Formats: sequence, C-alpha cells, structure tokens
Amino acid sequence: MSDQYSLLILPGDGIGPEVMAEVVKVIGWFESNRGMSFDVNQDLVGGAAYDAHGVPLADATMDKAQSVDAVLLGAVGGPKYDVLDFSVKPERGLLRLRKEMDLFANLRPAQCFDALADFSSLKREVVAGLDILIVRELTSGVYFGEPRGIHADDNNPDNEGGRVGINTQRYTSGEIRRVARSAFELARRRGNRVCSMEKANVMESGILWREEVQWVHDNEYPDVELSHMYADNGAMQLVRRPQQFDVIVTDNLFGDVLSDAAAMLTGSLGMLPSASLGAKMANGRPKAMYEPVHGSAPDIAGEGKANPIACILSFAMALRYSFDQGDAAAELERAVERVLAKGVRTADLMGPEGGTPVSTVQMGDHIIAALSQGV
Ligand code: IPM
Ligand code: MG
Repeated sequence: MSDQYSLLILPGDGIGPEVMAEVVKVIGWFESNRGMSFDVNQDLVGGAAYDAHGVPLADATMDKAQSVDAVLLGAVGGPKYDVLDFSVKPERGLLRLRKEMDLFANLRPAQCFDALADFSSLKREVVAGLDILIVRELTSGVYFGEPRGIHADDNNPDNEGGRVGINTQRYTSGEIRRVARSAFELARRRGNRVCSMEKANVMESGILWREEVQWVHDNEYPDVELSHMYADNGAMQLVRRPQQFDVIVTDNLFGDVLSDAAAMLTGSLGMLPSASLGAKMANGRPKAMYEPVHGSAPDIAGEGKANPIACILSFAMALRYSFDQGDAAAELERAVERVLAKGVRTADLMGPEGGTPVSTVQMGDHIIAALSQGV
C-alpha cells in the first residue's frame, strides 16, 4: 500500500502562486515515481484571502490547516495591501497560522550550494560549504506579547505628537525550554553544537532565555556543546565567520533578523526553505507548515522570473520532517544541486558575467528532469 499524506497548499500573494505551481509538479513526480500519494487541498491566504473574504485567513482555512498532515505556504503581502488596517494585513494570516497551530520551532537552514558560492556578497572561502541551522522561536516574544498597541500618551506634555507605540517582549520558561529542546535534538543529528543568542545584557527576558537554555542543556543534553552570544555580536559573527556555527537558537524577533542575514550569505534569498514545527499530533507527526524564507516579491510577481527553489526545498523539508521520507528529501535536494552545478540559473542567481536566466517554469522542469535522470 502506498503512503497517503494530506497537504494544504496556500500559494498566497505575489510570486507565491508561481513558485508553488512548480512544487505541485514536484509533488506529482513523487506520486508517479515513488509510490507516494498526496491528498492535496488548495486555499487562500494573505492578500488573496482578503480579496475573497475580507480577512487574510478564513476560519474554514484555519480549520483545514489544523486537520492536515502539513501546510505548504508560498508568500504573503504586497503594496496593494499596505493601506489596510493592521488587523487584516496579509501578514496577520501567516501569524495566525503560526500561533493557532502553535508552530513554536522555526527551522531555517542556511546552506551554501557549491555552485553558488561566488554569488554570496562574502568571499567564497568564507561561505563555501556553509551549513548552519537557525532555530527561531515562532509563537511568542514581541510578535505576540501584550500589552501592545498605539495609544494617546495622556498627561505627558513633553511628548510632541502625543502618542506612544507599545510592544512587549515576553517569554515564559516553558516557551524557552521547548524550543531549546528542538535545537538540541537537531544539533545531535548534525554537528552537535548549539549557540543561543539573546540580549541578556539589556533584557530580563534575555537573562531568562540564557538561564533556561542552560538548564535544558545541563539537565537533558549535556552531551551537546552549548555557547551563548549576545545577538548583536551574533549578527557580526555571522558575516565575519559563519562557519563557526552549527545550530543557532534564538527568539522570534532576533531570529527574524538573523535568518535574513544568514540567508543572504548563501547567495540568494530565493534559495532558502523553512519548516515550522509544533507538538506531535495523534498520528505521531508534528503540526507543520513549510514555506520559503523569501517574501512575495511584488516587483517581479507575474513575470515568470521568480526562483522556485526555496519553495521546492521547503517541500523537501516536508518530506523529511512530516513524512519521514528522508531519502526522498535528499533525492530532491541532490536534484536541485545538480541543476545548479550545470549552470542553470534564474534571474536572481545571475552573476556579473551574465548569461541567460531561465524562467520559473523552466527551473521547475530542469529539477523534474534531474529527478528523472537520477544520480
Ligand atoms: C518571516 C517574515 C514574517 C515575519 C513576516 C512576513 C510577518 O519576515 O517569516 O521571516 O516577520 O516573521
Ligand atoms: Mg523575516
């Protein structure tokens, strides 16, 4: 009997639908060639959902997301929606999925494919062979902390403009411990080193973060090497000598910033996948959503130029983390690597020497062809 997996595909906005169409082709390939069977449902998120329903994520879509084995998301947002009230902005749809599915561990690998080492803004020798994993806490911290809002700053005559904007960085020890465990577990399957980043020099939440990560280490993972770093130093070290890191664990906001920096080390934001994982469901699989790290890129949307690799590699992560198909995931990653090694490039991967970029669809076709050819 073949394995049957349920997937909810949310292409979203901008280049989301274009890159997701290539993932759908890849899914079809695994069905035809590897005896897998996917029960695929498509729905709307972000601006596309707002246009149809007046909200960036309909309740019915949220219900579907809760019931499937995995969600694949393209990208959300676009300039058209900048004027919307904060509560219905496209990004709120994404944040609602993360929060209600309780996807607390966001895995953002930054791997530098050898064929792309020259595309990095850093020197080849600094990035060649780079393989780090950022584990970002995704459901708490300043993204969700209360109180929050923009208020009149009553009784403060010295405040020109008269308003105050508030967000709250708040972490419980339980929230820190669970994401720390994810990081230590992942480190054991890689280089066995974790570097935890916070700002314990200025933030109490940072002190708690450091203490709790250390506690989890000392009590449960003493075999893993743990170090701590202030997040600003971490940003500097990431561009100075990124190879010193194996797994980085950090909070929601620092993780957002540091993962964009780490992503660019590898040459293009168009390359990086991510997995957002929560607690195990009754079937033993974790709650999960997979999405590229890049955004909706409205400037090139609809032009067929977007690089579908980040989204395709996100599906590879789904194969690995949701479906226990590590061999299939590696097969797909190798296919991508071979296509890049042949010099096939989308526009974002064009070096100064130029050449003719392939389209989104052509890149997808090349990857399918490489899968069919095998190693
Ligand atoms: C990301 C994005 C999101 C975030 C936005 C789109 C809300 O930047 O996934 O990194 O800030 O988390
Ligand atoms: Mg971000």
